[in-house]
Amino acid sequence: MDIERLKASFKNLFQAEPIIVKSPGRINIIGEHTDYNGGFVMPAAINKAIYVAVSKRTDNEIHLYSESYQQFHHCSIESIEKSDKGWANYILGVADQLKKRGYKFGGFNLYLDGNVPLGAGLSSSAALECATVFAIDYLNNLGISQMDRALISQKAEHVFAGVNCGIMDQFASVFGKKDYAVMLDCRSMKYVYIPLKLDGYKLVLLNTNVKHSLSDSAYNTRRSQCEQGVAWVSEFVAGVTSLRDVNRVMLEQYVKPKSLEVFQKCNFVVEEIERVVKSADQLANGDLAALGNLMFQTHEGLSKDYEVSCAELDFLVELVKNDNAVLGARMMGGGFGGCTINIVKDEAIDELIVRAKIDYKKRFNLELDAYVVQTDNGSELVT
Ligand code: GLA
Repeated sequence: MDIERLKASFKNLFQAEPIIVKSPGRINIIGEHTDYNGGFVMPAAINKAIYVAVSKRTDNEIHLYSESYQQFHHCSIESIEKSDKGWANYILGVADQLKKRGYKFGGFNLYLDGNVPLGAGLSSSAALECATVFAIDYLNNLGISQMDRALISQKAEHVFAGVNCGIMDQFASVFGKKDYAVMLDCRSMKYVYIPLKLDGYKLVLLNTNVKHSLSDSAYNTRRSQCEQGVAWVSEFVAGVTSLRDVNRVMLEQYVKPKSLEVFQKCNFVVEEIERVVKSADQLANGDLAALGNLMFQTHEGLSKDYEVSCAELDFLVELVKNDNAVLGARMMGGGFGGCTINIVKDEAIDELIVRAKIDYKKRFNLELDAYVVQTDNGSELVT
């Protein structure tokens, strides 16, 4: 990212000196659709980030510009409303949340740029929310804690983007740490950093370059199905407030007879929560092969039981399944498009990417993008 160029573009547009805030996209090693179920997740921030250049204004106006969309958006702090420009909503949603929580801040200019591929399931939207809250906090000395920055960003997504997301993406963008994954307990919000030691291997993302329109509505539906399962179990078992408190026996007894579909969805989540716990041990022991196995299992579950995969993602996982250089692979994030995450032996990466591109193009007549990602730190000021 060319910071000098970003500064120059900002000055050119707004005639002011900006601060620059960087907030990263994320990967998730394992633990999918577990965050909004009080379970565990294991994300890491990556070296692809959203950058915002921001300055205070002397009035109460919000002036935004997006480099990727080459679009402006203006409004006043007094009347923040949802816009028809998707990108602006992530920023406005954050400003709206801050207002609702009683934080006092004045107008600001914000110039948005970055290198997180959009719609690729790498949480560019969460990164933008987290960058925005960091910048407003910093410029106005609001003293917002890291956890609140993540929570405010998540709420902005619920209200202004209409996706009832869990906390994983925003948490990872704020709390990420270079060379580590973070294991977060989404029920207690306690977390531990786990060194991501991949000796001889790297994390490779294969981007399907598709985002099926189903993704947002299906996400919200899955969430309600999980809540339905919890409601049925809690009629009989005391103290059950999320799928974290539920086991297979309870699901068999209280959910399966009512709805096979809800049972399947809930059972995936219960199994996935267990896989994250196992993965933490395997990562700590350096047993990447075992971890990779669990990733394949996660994919199977997401595809067949949770039903949030798609032909493109399934194809890419299938493609590497019998490749000895690939220890594990699965679709990553909410689903219905975006990337697969793969643990690949260093010396086999180039060849794998070439092969995947050719086969993918042949099958879907689509370009495949590949990123060899590194971990990075969470939201920070760029000096
Ligand atoms: C999206 C959401 C997250 C999480 C994942 C699935 O990325 O924003 O909160 O639920 O899907 O694990």
